Amino acid sequence: MITSSFLVTAMWRGCTLTLRRPFPMVQSCLLSTQQPISAARLPCRVKVSAGKRYAWCACGHSKKQPFCDGAHVKKAPTILPLRFTPDKDQTVMLCACKQTKNSPYCDGSHFRVIFQDIVKKVKGVFK
Ligand code: FES
Repeated sequence: MITSSFLVTAMWRGCTLTLRRPFPMVQSCLLSTQQPISAARLPCRVKVSAGKRYAWCACGHSKKQPFCDGAHVKKAPTILPLRFTPDKDQTVMLCACKQTKNSPYCDGSHFRVIFQDIVKKVKGVFK
């Protein structure tokens, strides 16, 4: 039930969306969960076997990084794991920041994530 004090507070804060939609905060939260989150700032060094199928976690919610544990089903249902099969036995660097453009392999995007973290921290100091 929307009370008059709720409406006045919403108008005072400029929350016109609050007046048009019943649950705007819920909608924005749902949208934000559909973005991958960084599981770690550095890539994972992993030995992979030729011909074996792997599922790389693309959402960042898995507890078995860098591989999928099925957590995306509840936490990010629109993000699916990337399945890949290596051609040969090798050691690879798999992305854990989930910002790579060369999934599932690290392309150095974690440096940008680390830089953004530093900028946020510095901005926080000067607030
Ligand atoms: S848990 Fe992240 S893609 Fe499956």
